[in-house]
Amino acid sequence: MPKILVTGGLGYIGSHTVVALQEAGFKVVIIDNLSNSTLKVLEGIVSITGVKPEFENFDLKEKNKIQEFLQKHDDISNVIHFAASKAVGESVEKPLLYYENNINTLVCLLQELNKKESINFIFSSSCTVYGQADVMPITEESPIKQAESPYGKTKQIGETIIADICKANKKFNAIALRYFNPIGAHKSAKIGELPTGVPQNLVPYIMQTGVGKRKQLSVFGNNYPTKDGTCIRDYIHVEDVASAHVIAIQRLLNKGNKSNLEIFNLGTGKGSTVLEVVKSFERVANQKLNYKIVERRQGDIMSAYADTSKANTILGWKAKFTLDEAILSAWKWQKTL
Ligand code: WQD
Repeated sequence: MPKILVTGGLGYIGSHTVVALQEAGFKVVIIDNLSNSTLKVLEGIVSITGVKPEFENFDLKEKNKIQEFLQKHDDISNVIHFAASKAVGESVEKPLLYYENNINTLVCLLQELNKKESINFIFSSSCTVYGQADVMPITEESPIKQAESPYGKTKQIGETIIADICKANKKFNAIALRYFNPIGAHKSAKIGELPTGVPQNLVPYIMQTGVGKRKQLSVFGNNYPTKDGTCIRDYIHVEDVASAHVIAIQRLLNKGNKSNLEIFNLGTGKGSTVLEVVKSFERVANQKLNYKIVERRQGDIMSAYADTSKANTILGWKAKFTLDEAILSAWKWQKTL
């Protein structure tokens, strides 16, 4: 089986994808600068699969390091690129950090990969490229609006860069996967989400409130025109997101040179409100969650959930886990921390 390069492979979605790739029989090599992860994640991967992926610790901004890496691993022609910063709020405060870390590193990596005979490239994209879509559920053809944050813009720009390379280089095949809201943890509870500092995202904040690490969850607004006034999102189990990456790389391996960028939404197709996620936690954890309704959060969109028919029919992939199963997996993981 071919070797797969996974950049950001010790991150949240990256580590779950490495496990899924190894379980599908692929050999994996990880590049990670450990800016948002630790070597404990590598131990977690090994404890699940029994197979230690190769790991090189450097930053993709260091172009000479990429060149050395690709000389050493000259058999790599399949890449899944996760390495990026992903905190929406932080990107508004520090746009240059995001343009450097998400765009500059992507260009450095692509410049080196573009020299190779042929490349299959999977790009970690995001539903944030849609902004507040006018029509639900959101399809891949939904108009791309001006993203609400520099983070979202880096995903839009990233897709554009890759699409242009596919047009210019007939040996460059790519798929962009637009994640909706990945949540949960591996069923073994040996790897999961490791937010640094105060969690910005809903589910890790709920989990930390559940174990008493946080006093109370703030629900950002309940005056939206939705069934209970709180925002709607498409919460997808991270293991479902990981399995889609295995199917996507297999598609590129099998389809030969088509040299175009295919784009797929990764969601469950079901929208859940914030309060429905809170209730899911209370159900699976069998305990009340301490929360209060506060003001809306700047930049939040009201509703986003996916039309997944394209991934269902073309990739033959469909999310398997329910919201309760994803929330339970996050809870089991939180209790190990
Ligand atoms: C979800 C809902 C909040 C925290 C994320 C990622 C982004 C992208 C899309 C991958 C919103 C509400 C949250 C809290 C709350 N994913 N909330 N109290 O904003 O959809 O963005 O998914 O690329 O990178 O950040 O997710 O979990 O921050 O918020 O009420 O303490 O929960 O208002 O409605 P979001 P989120």
